[in-house]
Amino acid sequence: MSQASAPGKIILFGEHAVVYGRPAIAAPVTDVRTTVTVEPAANGVQRIISRKIDLDVRLDEILPGFWGAEVLNGVRNALDLEAFPPFKMTIDSSIPVASGMGSGAAVAVAAIRALARFAGKALADETVNRIAFETEKLHHGTPSGIDNTVVTFARPVYFVQEQPIEILKVPAPFTVVIADTGIPSPTALSVGDLRRAWTHDRARYEEIFDHIGALAREARAAIESGHPDSLGRLMDENHRWLYEVGVSSPELDTLVNAARSAGAAGAKLSGGGRGGNIVALATPDSAPRIAAALSAAGATATIITSIGD
Ligand code: PMV
Repeated sequence: MSQASAPGKIILFGEHAVVYGRPAIAAPVTDVRTTVTVEPAANGVQRIISRKIDLDVRLDEILPGFWGAEVLNGVRNALDLEAFPPFKMTIDSSIPVASGMGSGAAVAVAAIRALARFAGKALADETVNRIAFETEKLHHGTPSGIDNTVVTFARPVYFVQEQPIEILKVPAPFTVVIADTGIPSPTALSVGDLRRAWTHDRARYEEIFDHIGALAREARAAIESGHPDSLGRLMDENHRWLYEVGVSSPELDTLVNAARSAGAAGAKLSGGGRGGNIVALATPDSAPRIAAALSAAGATATIITSIGD
């Protein structure tokens, strides 16, 4: 039996603009994880099971375009194997699905590593990341690659599409509260809508993406110089731009406002938007109060976590 696990993730700055070449910052959230177990199967079948999403598929029966097939072929090619022996792959995950916490990327990364181990091998992180990116294309259409990158390396990253990965130094770890609207929101929809809007008025959207990119650069400087306290204002500004481009929602705005009223230094939606999660800057002292206020305002789940520990 072989096993691998991967964390969830949260985007702190720069979502959506990152698809258009601007920088973004994301960090792993180790409080939620996906664990994938691969064991030999006696019945000659390759099977993937996930109780959480009611998935039970045989890989010989599925259509091309299923992420599991992409993972299997990617690992087989990377390891130069003819074929995999029959196996049963079981996915267990505490990462909420379609909520901007990287659940798809975590499943892919854990599955890739577990399958390689099942074959008695290990893959370089760069290879894991490359195969996971192929599965992200199936989920998202035109992903930037930020999700698979932060989940593969499990470190805070400063990410620019098609640039070498930059791991962020975090000399002063900081506390954030993550809160879920409970509304699933497939990233492909908000990314697609924004793409259509951009096509009709490129100048306007490019200017907004420039503003968002500048915020990500400023945030990086604050994080790396050990002064994360200024991130609150940057989060507020980032949320305003995301609202402007139409990827927020009344529920996200309600949670963002509730976090600020409860003492968060700033807050924003995180990920694709329309539903999913918000992230708020807190302190170890204020975080429980902010989390309670978010629950009272309708959040279906909250996570208090430290970035950079
Ligand atoms: O997977 P999500 O919902 O966290 O969104 C990923 C971030 C986007 O910038 C919206 C899309 C992308 O591919 O970078």
